[in-house]
Formats: sequence, C-alpha cells, structure tokens
Amino acid sequence: MWWRDQAFRLGAPAQAHLKVQGLSAGYGAFLVLRDLRLEARPGLTVIVGPNGAGKTTLLKALAGLIPRGGIVTLDGAELAARTHEIVRAGVALVAEGRQLFAQMSVTENLELGGWLLPKAQRAQRIEQAFALFPKLRERARQLAGTMSGGEQQMVAVARAMVSTPRLLMLDEPSLGLAPKMVDELLAAARRIADAGTTVLMVEQNVKKALAVADRGYVLERGVLVASGNAKLLARSTVVREAYLGAGASGSGRAAAAAPRG
Ligand SMILES: Nc1ncnc2c1ncn2[C@@H]1O[C@H](COP(=O)(O)OP(=O)(O)OP(=O)(O)O)[C@@H](O)[C@H]1O
Ligand SMILES: [Mg+2]
Repeated sequence: MWWRDQAFRLGAPAQAHLKVQGLSAGYGAFLVLRDLRLEARPGLTVIVGPNGAGKTTLLKALAGLIPRGGIVTLDGAELAARTHEIVRAGVALVAEGRQLFAQMSVTENLELGGWLLPKAQRAQRIEQAFALFPKLRERARQLAGTMSGGEQQMVAVARAMVSTPRLLMLDEPSLGLAPKMVDELLAAARRIADAGTTVLMVEQNVKKALAVADRGYVLERGVLVASGNAKLLARSTVVREAYLGAGASGSGRAAAAAPRG
C-alpha cells in the first residue's frame, strides 16, 4: 500500500516520542490533572476514562491551549508551553467539535491545514490526505458544513494531516458517529500511526479503541489508574469491569462510563 512504500511525512525526521512527567493542569484554581506520567511512543496510544476525567484537559494542556506544570518532551527536547511553538514542533490537535469552516469546500479546508507549506508541497499533502480518506476525494468540492458528522470528522483529521504533524492528537474522533463510521475513523488512526505519525487518541469507544491501539491509559478523576499494552489492558479487571460491561452491570463505575446524552 502506498503509505508503506512512501513516507507520509515529507522529509520529516524519525517517528516522534512524547514523554510527560509530573503534568498538572486545570482551570484557574481548579486543578483537574495531578502529577501525570505518560508516554506516546511511535504507534497509536489511546486514553480512555469516564466523562469529566480530564481527557480533553490533558490534550489541551499538551497543545498549549491551557497552562500546565510538569515536563513534556518530544524526542528528548523539551516542548515549549506556547501554542505556536508546539505547532511548529509538529504537534497537531483535532479537537472535539471539529472546527471546520462550514462555508468552505473540503479542499479549501484542507488547504488551510497546509497554509504554512510551499504550494507544491501543500498540493502533495492534500493528495496524500485524499489517499488516506478516498471518500473525501469524491466530495472535494462539497461545502464542509453540508457533510455528515463522520465525513466532517474525516475532513478534520485530513486537515490536521496536511499540516505534516509528527504527533497527532485526536479528541474522541468517533463521538456521535454510527458504528461503521467509528470503525472507519479508528482504522484511519491506525493507518496514520503505521505510516509514521505518532498518534495520541482519546476515545469513548473503549473496546474498539483498545483493539486498534498499541498502548493505552485509563484516566479517572485526573489521575492515571492503569496503563500498558492495549490488548492486555482490554483484558484487565479495571477496564473490563468499568468500561466493557463485565461484572455487575449496574455498578457505579459502569454508570460513570456510560455514553453522554
Ligand atoms: N473551561 C473550563 N473551565 C472550568 N472547568 C472546566 C473547563 N473545561 C473542563 N472543565 C472541568 O474539568 C474537568 C475535566 O473535563 P474534561 O473536559 O477534561 O473531561 P473529559 O475527560 O474530556 O470528559 P468527556 O469524556 O465528557 O469529554 C471536568 O470537571 C470539567 O467540568
Ligand atoms: Mg472530553
């Protein structure tokens, strides 16, 4: 397949390795995350946890959208705290809600992802994004705002990929999507990781996310309570009881992990 034959990231250095130590973050005096230690190694790392655990807060802190404490390194070099420097270091975040330009076409949205690139390289990146999501090529001229939720999510991920990230962070890419579309997006995340971009993904579809990921973390109330190989984590008691419906179905933790309304 093309993404195995050809490096997806043009001229970019080897696969990124993110390390986080003693990370804390919150909103004003309200501390949400306490002393987190985690890694996103080359491949696909997933973070799961109930609503309000701090998953989005973690991605926002890593993207420099809110202040944080602790040490964050990308390939051993300390990552700056300011958003534009983080972007320049090759970190991209696809936030919840997609934030597309509804009145612009798919292609125009993708062009915005590559506005810092020389024109020829931008065109090449857009071509690669279409190869990643063939459905979008057919819809290249459609206004983004008129696309289905799943298609819009694809545009958001494709746009992030046009910016040539070394670390791609995805916040619940499958939120609100039908099962088939969930599978498509998770498969795309897997392909992106296989093609050499390190992926750190927050997901509520715990079973499916752990099935495609290499490693996983469980975040509860701002603290990491479990981590490890994704396949082993899926079989662990903490994940099975709280997120996969094993054990007492009416337990408080299962209720906490129920889909939002
Ligand atoms: N802008 C904000 N100001 C104040 N508190 C916030 C803000 N955003 C989030 N919080 C609080 O921080 C905590 C963690 O929220 P966060 O959005 O990170 O959770 P989450 O794990 O992403 O949840 P979900 O699965 O529902 O997306 C919650 O208690 C939330 O109310
Ligand atoms: Mg969230």
